[in-house]
Amino acid sequence: MAKPTLVITRRLYDQVRASLASVFDIIADNQATDQPWDAATMQRHVAQADYLFCTVADKIDAAVIAAAPRLKLIATGAVGYNNIDVAACKARGILITNTPDVLTQTTADFGFALMMTTARRISESERYARAGQWAGWAFDQFTGRDLHHATLGIIGMGRIGGAIARRAMGFDMRVLYHNRNRSQEAVEATWVEKEQLLRESDFVMLVVPYSPATHHLIGAAELALMKPTATLINIARGGVVDDQALIAALKDKRIAAAGLDVFENEPKFDPTFLQFENVVITPHIASSSKATRGAMMQLAADNLLAHAAGLPLKTPVA
Ligand code: GLV
Repeated sequence: MAKPTLVITRRLYDQVRASLASVFDIIADNQATDQPWDAATMQRHVAQADYLFCTVADKIDAAVIAAAPRLKLIATGAVGYNNIDVAACKARGILITNTPDVLTQTTADFGFALMMTTARRISESERYARAGQWAGWAFDQFTGRDLHHATLGIIGMGRIGGAIARRAMGFDMRVLYHNRNRSQEAVEATWVEKEQLLRESDFVMLVVPYSPATHHLIGAAELALMKPTATLINIARGGVVDDQALIAALKDKRIAAAGLDVFENEPKFDPTFLQFENVVITPHIASSSKATRGAMMQLAADNLLAHAAGLPLKTPVA
């Protein structure tokens, strides 16, 4: 019997690809170059695909779905799936799986690291030292903001938000959170309205999924509520923050700093951000430890393998 066909949009670790190659006929992949496909290339590749392995950086819109008449399952190697047109998949009975849990701790580590880097001006001071500008020690050199005993406000208290809250407890932070529902994850954190969180927090950490409901969740009005000494950290998605409103707030010094792993229109984010020494910019790497990226790939692969074997999906998208 012919093997089911599979398209893999980006390069995988060899062992993960090998586990798929034994079961699927991989009719297109990106193992050699790992360059994102344009829309036309994507549509051409999926035309004969029974299965699709994609990533957070691939736009799987209605046109891609329409170009893939045989498609049964899309396995994305990410927890967020706002890049996939879920309604178009539902209409066609195409299943979707994502990769929750395996990236929770790594992503929480990164959220914390980005918060510390921003608070303690690590990127800025490293640029200075590397540029040979370090002439001597001074009391007021790169004075940053303390995390310990500061108030952290987490917007979005799912698995990753909970893991960040637990880290914050170890730093003696006061932790507030805002979520649609009061969370089981947040044992020692306090649920407050979004406005109170924005007004009281020294650090505001965004960990919500992107959806029409969270589009520009942080815009001019929300930034205006934050303290001038507060720092915004976004490890959620571009589009959760109105980047133009954030740029305006940074220009007017209405907030102190920002740590941003995600941007509107990434990877082509607004270059104005580069002008701010108090903005730490990272290229959407919050889940990127070697082990966790491997676990994400393998979980996506395991979902494909389960479906092909007629077994239940491991992590279907609800
Ligand atoms: C990364 O952004 C993910 O959603 O896994």
